[in-house]
Amino acid sequence: MSTLIGKLSPSVTNLIRMDHAHVLATFQQFHAGTGVRKKQALVESACLALEIHAQLEEEIFYPALRELASDTTIVEKSFPEHSEMRRLITRLRGMVPTDPEYDNAFMELMRDVMHHVADEETTLLPAAERLLCERLGDLGAEMTRRRLQLLGSHAGEIASNTLRSFPESAIVMASGAMAAGAYLFGRAGARPGPGPAPR
Ligand SMILES: [Fe+2]
Ligand SMILES: [Fe+2]
Repeated sequence: MSTLIGKLSPSVTNLIRMDHAHVLATFQQFHAGTGVRKKQALVESACLALEIHAQLEEEIFYPALRELASDTTIVEKSFPEHSEMRRLITRLRGMVPTDPEYDNAFMELMRDVMHHVADEETTLLPAAERLLCERLGDLGAEMTRRRLQLLGSHAGEIASNTLRSFPESAIVMASGAMAAGAYLFGRAGARPGPGPAPR
């Protein structure tokens, strides 16, 4: 499995872009008029995806970039932004979706995340693609392995969120954080189909 991940995993920068797209797609499903159960599932799904994404960036991506960047300001400012995001996630988890402040708290998280994602996509990822060009594939494989570990410990929570926000989260999950793992498992299990039935 480890060798397969090394061969098939997208580059680290493309994995990060996929995660961003996944979270932004979850945000788009959230509306003030959404039912309480589905709203909570969308929020929980977005929060978990953001936590895993931030952990992966902090453990694997930012340290690799920090080693090579002459100006690390852009990397360093990401840590307090992740901390603020975690603070808002903790606040949301302490609320019920019927709380009058629930929507505002999630809107604040969405605004912060969209700003952070825009910075990463316009400056951090292009810088990484210049500086880490030789290592993008290896770092992508490392990120995929670590993601599978982290997802494994949250499997029940992910299944519950998917069921409660179905069908949107099923579409979102297929396109986002789970995509790399699902893609790899799919390729690992793929075999040539049977030929035409004998006449
Ligand atoms: Fe980040
Ligand atoms: Fe990111």
